Amino acid sequence: MSSSVQLKHLSEELDLLEAEAANKIAEASDGETLEKLRLNFLGKKGRLSIVLGAMGKLPGNERPLVGQRANLLKSQLQELISQRLEVLKSQALEKLLAQETIDVTAPPSGIPQGHRHPLVTTTEKIIDLFSGLGYQVVEGPELESDFYNFEALNIPPNHPARDMQDTFYLDKSFLLRTHTSPVQIRYLENNHPPIRIVSPGRVYRRDSVDATHSPVFHQVEVLAIDEGLDFSHLRGTVMAFLKAFFGDLPIRFRASYFPFTEPSAEVDVQWRGKWLEVMGCGMVDPAVLEGMGIDPERWTGFAAGLGVERFCMVKHGIDDIRRFYTNDLRFLEQF
Ligand code: DAH
Repeated sequence: MSSSVQLKHLSEELDLLEAEAANKIAEASDGETLEKLRLNFLGKKGRLSIVLGAMGKLPGNERPLVGQRANLLKSQLQELISQRLEVLKSQALEKLLAQETIDVTAPPSGIPQGHRHPLVTTTEKIIDLFSGLGYQVVEGPELESDFYNFEALNIPPNHPARDMQDTFYLDKSFLLRTHTSPVQIRYLENNHPPIRIVSPGRVYRRDSVDATHSPVFHQVEVLAIDEGLDFSHLRGTVMAFLKAFFGDLPIRFRASYFPFTEPSAEVDVQWRGKWLEVMGCGMVDPAVLEGMGIDPERWTGFAAGLGVERFCMVKHGIDDIRRFYTNDLRFLEQF
């Protein structure tokens, strides 16, 4: 093969390379493809290197021609590649910006709303119903003395409710209230009949935790004192209240005993085929009234105490009291 043929051959190869490389670089759609092209054309074993290698076989006077051309092409292709890389980079950035565009004119999708705790809404519902009957809301302290929690409520010193096993004592005479009934006494100390009050609040008992027991739970106390109140008023009030709260669940009164009421009753509602106790009640024991300086010949009254957790569980079909205290959002968000 003559040297001129070789020269022609190498020049053609460079022409071909130039056209092909320019096309492919322009079409490369990502950095990876571009890098492959760079290696293919400009790499150590790339096509331009092969031309440069073959150049050695040309006669000395022809080498500079091809050499210059090859070096020019090399820098042209490098330039094309880096230009294309810039284009690709700015396209990627534009795409990202388009994706992340914030439409400041779009209407807000809403702030996620918190939920009121079911024990709060249940307590409020109970209070609402009694407010509608003219009852006033009063509150008392959770740290109580033996006098208000037991003695003034006619609970004798040896009564089992006073037992260390049921009551959290702070010392001999102070304790965490075991029920909301002491609020009756505190109110009677400062107010004269006629009286109609409800008192919601937290109470404490030394119970171990299970599906139906918690050492802290909630009660609502009810107290009405007036002239001429008798058991029919108690029954009528409780029935009206329970019907308003639960709807048409069957209700029954069952004779019971509480030291501060006489007679006393427990009230059951039928739930899931069983009678379930929901509250205690009775006519205020004359001894309690006398103790507070109220003439039981003139004034009579009725009282009731109910457990908020139990009301809420029956109303919403909740199977375990612990759900109220574990703050599982999947539970709380249902209310
Ligand atoms: N204090 C009672 C308890 O916690 C409930 C109770 C029963 C309250 C009868 C009353 C009542 O006011 O009259 O078990």
